[in-house]
Amino acid sequence: MRLLEEKIISEGRVLSDQVLKVDSFLNHQIDPSLMNEIGKEFAARFVNEGITKIVTIESSGIAPAIMAGLYMNIPVVFARKRKSLTLTDDLLTASVHSFTKNETNEISIAKKYLDSNDRVLIIDDFLANGQAALGLVEIVQQSGAQVMGIGIVIEKSFQKGTEKLKELGLRVESLARIASLTNGEVQFINDKVE
Ligand code: G4P
Ligand code: NA
Ligand code: NA
Repeated sequence: MRLLEEKIISEGRVLSDQVLKVDSFLNHQIDPSLMNEIGKEFAARFVNEGITKIVTIESSGIAPAIMAGLYMNIPVVFARKRKSLTLTDDLLTASVHSFTKNETNEISIAKKYLDSNDRVLIIDDFLANGQAALGLVEIVQQSGAQVMGIGIVIEKSFQKGTEKLKELGLRVESLARIASLTNGEVQFINDKVE
C-alpha cells in the first residue's frame, strides 16, 4: 500500500536491524486518515470471505481493526493482555511469548464474543515472529470459529511470522512488507518481482 509505505519512509525511524519505530502514526500518536485508508484496504482484500467478525489484540491492533470493522460493517473484538478479574471459565485464553520483550503473556477473549458460526479476520499492527497472531488463531479455533485470514499493517518479512502462518494454510495480507532494516534503511519487498 503506497500511502503507508510513504508514511513509513517519511516518519518511521529504524532503531536497529530488527526494529522500526512508528510512534507518530501507529503505536502512540495515531493518524486517523491513514487508519481510514488502511481499514478500507483490508475490507477490499477480504470482501469475498464472508467475514463476520474482526479479532485483534490490544493496544496497537485496535485502531486499524476498528476502521476495517467500520468498512465491513461487523464488530471488532480485541484480546486483552491482562488477566480478567471475572471468572476465567468464561474466557478463551492462549499464552503468547514475545521474543522481542522476552516475556510471556496470557491473552484472552470472553467466550460470548466468538461463536462457531463466526468467520474471523485477525488484524494486527506488526507481524514479527508471529507469536501474537498464532495466539489469536488459537483462541479463535478454541471457539469453533473459522480463521478466514490475517491482515497485518506492517510485516517484517525477514522474521519468521508470515512463514509460520502460511504453513498453517492461513492467508496473510500485509499492507507494507519490509524486506530489511539494515544500514538504517527501510527496504520494502517489491511485490512485482516476487
Ligand atoms: P510477534 O507477536 O510477531 O512474535 O512479535 P513480538 O513478540 O516480537 O512483538 C512484541 C511487541 O512488539 C508487539 O507489540 C509487536 O507489535 C511489537 N513489534 C514487533 N516488532 C516491532 C517493530 O519492528 N516495531 C514496532 N513499533 N513494534 C514492533 P505489543 O507489545 O503487543 O504492543 P502494543 O503496541 O500492541 O501495545
Ligand atoms: Na505493537
Ligand atoms: Na500489536
